[in-house]
Amino acid sequence: VEVITEIESCRSAIQAAKGAGLRTALVPTMGALHSGHLALIQAARQRAGHVAVSIFVNPTQFCPGEDFAKYPRALEKDLSLCRDSNVDLVFAPSVDAMFPVAATTTVHVARLADGLCGPLRPGHFDGVATVVTKLFQILPVDLAVFGEKDYQQLVIVRHLARDLNVPVEIVGHPTVREPDGLALSSRNAYLGPSERRQAGSLSAALFAAVDRAAGGELRSAALLADIRARIHAAGPATIEYVEVVDAETLESLRVIDRPARICLAVRIGNCRLIDNVAVDGRPSTR
Ligand code: PAF
Repeated sequence: VEVITEIESCRSAIQAAKGAGLRTALVPTMGALHSGHLALIQAARQRAGHVAVSIFVNPTQFCPGEDFAKYPRALEKDLSLCRDSNVDLVFAPSVDAMFPVAATTTVHVARLADGLCGPLRPGHFDGVATVVTKLFQILPVDLAVFGEKDYQQLVIVRHLARDLNVPVEIVGHPTVREPDGLALSSRNAYLGPSERRQAGSLSAALFAAVDRAAGGELRSAALLADIRARIHAAGPATIEYVEVVDAETLESLRVIDRPARICLAVRIGNCRLIDNVAVDGRPSTR
């Protein structure tokens, strides 16, 4: 695997791969790679002859008081996982290279960042949209793979690519889960043992709602009340939000009358967990 920290060399490496006739793919990450990321890399590999992974803990997407300083960093282990997964290129820039002090431009995707995690993490999606736009400039790939676990992020990235005419195909990849259903996340490392057991209640509650919707209960309020009750029954948790939204516009739905997503953010101990499932009145497929 070729490890590149310089922006210009990275752009040249992608252009060289394209010049050699290869379809190129990017998996953007903040490192601390786990099986969820490896599934994204595999999905990229199925679609492309040249696979790049970016590893950059982006300071601009952390709000004041969030976990930027303690976010897990494990570059050597990440590189060895990338090597094992036959990644062709790792782009691991410094913060100064990505955000020189003189940089003042921000990418803001209107409306889609107004709900769900947006109001709770002010500036987060501007930070994501800006860094992803920069990555698309530095790695002008044919396609980029993002996990559905960060569903709002995925929708925002799709829109920014379309609105800014970035010639990149955005591929969404289904959430990878632990055997008890917990969505894989680098932040799961913050959970203590009993919190980790409790955390399985989030996906269990979501999948129960999908099944209940398949049984004919399409009123969001009824499904959401049940999800809240299940999560609270599992132990002390703060539900930041749980909502049924239109799968494309992310607008809140009172009734599931189109493809929708149930999204939640819950704090268990010091750990903020997010998860979501597709719901359209058909049974869950997990
Ligand atoms: O999903 C992530 O890991 C990050 O938000 C991303 C897309 C790499 C941007 O920093």
